[in-house]
Amino acid sequence: MFSNQFVLVFSLLLCLPFVFFFVAPHVFPSPPPGESLIPISDEIDDRSLFIAAAGSTSLSHLSSGNPNPKLKIAFLFLTNSDLHFAPIWDRFFSGHPKSLYNVYVHGDPYANITRPGNGSVFENAFIANAKRTARASPTLISATRRLLATAFLDDPANTYFAVLSQYCIPLHSFNYVYSSLFESSTFDKSDPDPTPNPRGIRILYRSFMELISDEPRLWKRYIARGRYAMMPEVPFEKFRVGSQFFVMTRKHALLTIKDRILWRKFKLPCYRSDECYPEEHYFPTLLNMKDPDGCTGYTLTRVNWTGTVKGHPYTYKPKEVVPELIQRLRRSNHSSSYFFARKFTPGCLKPLLAIADSVIFRD
Ligand SMILES: *[C@@H]1O[C@H](CO)[C@@H](O)[C@H](O)[C@H]1NC(C)=O
Ligand SMILES: *[C@@H]1O[C@H](CO)[C@@H](O)[C@H](O)[C@H]1NC(C)=O
Ligand SMILES: *[C@@H]1O[C@H](CO)[C@@H](O)[C@H](O)[C@H]1NC(C)=O
Ligand SMILES: *[C@@H]1O[C@H](CO)[C@@H](O)[C@H](O)[C@H]1NC(C)=O
Repeated sequence: MFSNQFVLVFSLLLCLPFVFFFVAPHVFPSPPPGESLIPISDEIDDRSLFIAAAGSTSLSHLSSGNPNPKLKIAFLFLTNSDLHFAPIWDRFFSGHPKSLYNVYVHGDPYANITRPGNGSVFENAFIANAKRTARASPTLISATRRLLATAFLDDPANTYFAVLSQYCIPLHSFNYVYSSLFESSTFDKSDPDPTPNPRGIRILYRSFMELISDEPRLWKRYIARGRYAMMPEVPFEKFRVGSQFFVMTRKHALLTIKDRILWRKFKLPCYRSDECYPEEHYFPTLLNMKDPDGCTGYTLTRVNWTGTVKGHPYTYKPKEVVPELIQRLRRSNHSSSYFFARKFTPGCLKPLLAIADSVIFRD
């Protein structure tokens, strides 16, 4: 008799999770309606990609003890339009062996993107699993993680991952960028111990990621999904903001691909879209919680927020593109120079190409 009761109680307990799973969505209020809900099929696709990437064993050539490591930079372009500056990026990469870099493009499949052909570095760079993206929505987090995972899995030599958009331009030559990241002991002014080893390869790599905590609207952005929506996983003291255009180490790329806890929070839609911008919060908050000392706290992509309109930074026009502008945009308080800059109207391509060799690629 007793054991029968026990079995009954026990089976009722077993059912509880199912009751919650099926009934809870109807009992608890559903999230506010928003365009940014991630389709479940996209989530499933991404999940298998992230599991595959996280399961790939090689962390990097350095940790595998390879005596002659080939270190590459993965350039990750996130776009929902044509790559207006493809010709200048082609000049940037031109003449440099593929053993030093890879290029990947996440092009929104719902946008009508003309793929550069004829031997452009972008010709075969579009990743197959790209999905729809929308501004100020968690789809930009997904797209970036998709790029990181694809590049991580594609080549164990990808050591740094630079996230860029179609409005970004280079401010220096490829050699300058490469040697600043892998060899220079003076490039990062915030680095307390650059420790170049005898072969001229740095040992300590940090992500060039902003972790800003003193932004006046931070609290409004924190509660954009509801007063307690981020708790308990993300307390306000850990919440950060920073540019979505960063240069990340392989170690941090793996950490980002593996994350499920913060993603569950940041994918929730916001009540107010003008206080949302999840892509500017997810990556800085994640790294701030997991490895703040592994970050420089600044970005290498220059942007001009003076006179910002509706969350868009200042966009340079063709007549403003002069050598002096490039010199001005390079100037940084944190490193020897910025690497990249945004945003530029497509019409800037011509004047940029005109000063490419004489100014931009002359370091
Ligand atoms: C896509 O772009 C091409 C070339 O610019 C144009 O011919 C075509 O009509 C566009 N399609 C759509 C759906 O916008
Ligand atoms: C590609 O190159 C071929 C041969 O040089 C040329 O005929 C064609 O117009 C080029 N296409 C584009 C899109 O530039
Ligand atoms: C930033 O944009 C403003 C216009 O909003 C412009 O006056 C200023 O010169 C720009 N700064 C730089 C460094 O280009
Ligand atoms: C560098 O610091 C100075 C002084 O705080 C500031 O005025 C300037 O805007 C900073 N430059 C950049 C590129 O952030």
